[in-house]
Amino acid sequence: MPEIAIIPSVLPVDQGRLTEGCIELEKAGCDRIQFDVMDGQFVPVITFGADTIAAIRPVVSVPFEAHMMIEKPEQMLKPMYDAGCETLIVHAETTGHLHRTLGAARELGARAAVAINPATPPSAVAHVLDLVDHVLVMTVNPGWGGQKYIATMEPKIAAVARMIEASGYHVGIEVDGGIGTTTVAGAVTAGANLLVAGSAIFRDPEGLEHGVSDLRARALAARSG
Ligand code: DX5
Repeated sequence: MPEIAIIPSVLPVDQGRLTEGCIELEKAGCDRIQFDVMDGQFVPVITFGADTIAAIRPVVSVPFEAHMMIEKPEQMLKPMYDAGCETLIVHAETTGHLHRTLGAARELGARAAVAINPATPPSAVAHVLDLVDHVLVMTVNPGWGGQKYIATMEPKIAAVARMIEASGYHVGIEVDGGIGTTTVAGAVTAGANLLVAGSAIFRDPEGLEHGVSDLRARALAARSG
């Protein structure tokens, strides 16, 4: 059974102090850091590109993943990998050649992952499970942090988990959006093991370290049921 991983999103971090924020997240005990790369086209927000991530890479040792909320992701695979993102998450909705794009990510030496928006069915990933390390089931509509968890995604998480089980491939399930103290158990019980959180960790009144450890403890408790 894939391990539980706590993966903070940098979206809540003041973009003027992203490096310091990532150093603080590493000290807080996170397993990976997720960079929400947005192009203002696939989602109506622009965040940052490969150069920003590359500037942070040398001072933080935890793995990076690029959540590529961008059109034409194939154009940014190499820049994001070269910037230091070991995992490249491609949205199924952003390319007519998802299989080829995920294969190109693996050709670079990256771990590939596929993300699906709330309205996208699990069948969109049925024929790429051999190419990915994980499937990201979005539990909000992408573009902003601090949104409400969409609980109706839980049956979809479970459906993806069944597909993965039937495939025989070792593929994780990541969730992203509204993951926090009151929602993490539902997502983990449905089958998620990779937990992306922004607001829940940064708004924890006891600080980042508690935010990470508390989420991990709640996820492990839900898993042991
Ligand atoms: C949506 C973003 C957010 C972010 C996490 O595009 O991907 O889901 O990472 O946001 P929170 O944890 O604040 O809902």
